[in-house]
Amino acid sequence: MLRAPREELADDARQGLISTPKHLPPKHLYDARGSELFEVITQLPEYPVTRAETAILEDAADAIVAAAQPDELLELGSGSSRKTRLLLEAMHRQGTGDRYAPLDVSVAAVEQAAAELAVDHPWLEVRGAIGDFSRDLGKVPRDGRRLVAFLGSTIGNLLPPARAELLTAIADSMAPEDRFLLGVDLVKPRDVLEAAYDDAAGVTAAFTTNLLVILNRELAGDLPVDAFVHRARWDAEAEHVELTLEATREVHARLERLDLDVHFAAGEHLLVEHSCKFRVPGIRAELAAAGLEVEQVHGGDTHGFALLLARRTGGADR
Ligand code: SAH
Ligand code: TRP
Repeated sequence: MLRAPREELADDARQGLISTPKHLPPKHLYDARGSELFEVITQLPEYPVTRAETAILEDAADAIVAAAQPDELLELGSGSSRKTRLLLEAMHRQGTGDRYAPLDVSVAAVEQAAAELAVDHPWLEVRGAIGDFSRDLGKVPRDGRRLVAFLGSTIGNLLPPARAELLTAIADSMAPEDRFLLGVDLVKPRDVLEAAYDDAAGVTAAFTTNLLVILNRELAGDLPVDAFVHRARWDAEAEHVELTLEATREVHARLERLDLDVHFAAGEHLLVEHSCKFRVPGIRAELAAAGLEVEQVHGGDTHGFALLLARRTGGADR
């Protein structure tokens, strides 16, 4: 399903490193080391997303599964699948289905999650797939009534146009009886958000800086990792955190495999990722525009995070 990852990184780097501003799609952050660092991020005191979503799922998994009655759970950007266990266990308890299809770009994450699940949940049938959820959704074979889960506010890593496209593709992939479960992190004060993406221990900085290591390794580059610093800036108008790597001095580097010279002026930023934050009415409207009608909302402002369960608008008539 996956195109050769190096080839895809090569295409994205060729485009992204000669544009203004320089940028790379966030999916390239997740090599084995990146996935490992992300797991550390989820446990940082400054990063509330994973704890909030876990707490909400602990309360709500049964109600979600009762409404969705899934034969199978398809998860987009599944990572470690740790929180997902709460949903899978509810499915098993209620006897709706025992099939799990994690879809992720990270081979390491899917392999490790599947291995751990096999030990702890021997009743579960795992059909892992490696791919890009913005492109490969239609390629995952469906088998019965589906709950599609997209957790961790990963949707926030897409800007509004790409988000609308993905939500529409998700809606179009759904049968009338399927359900979509979306986790979104909510808008909160600047200091809280900036700390969540620039922690004191420097784990998030190591995570974004690893992108330079990946570029050097995969594309035979000589980007000086020590010339870049990690930055996280809350843009209150756009309501997203912008994550960049800033060149602290002028950089002349080369990506040999692309036959490409790369130049950074001192102070120039490489855009690594956006993390958009949401308000419940806004995301509800985005879902509606994509043809998805919200049935349940769990969490909310008191949790700083919301889980929305939706079905296709029009149900069986569409
Ligand atoms: N769902 C997990 C992981 C979130 S991190 C959680 O909530 O903790 C984002 C995950 O999405 C990573 O595992 C990353 O490898 C994956 N990912 C990022 N972009 C992707 C893409 N375009 N297609 C598929 N997976 C992607
Ligand atoms: N979906 C996560 C988020 O936006 C991913 C994430 C957390 C992330 N910390 C990061 C991505 C730091 C890049 C850099 O919350």
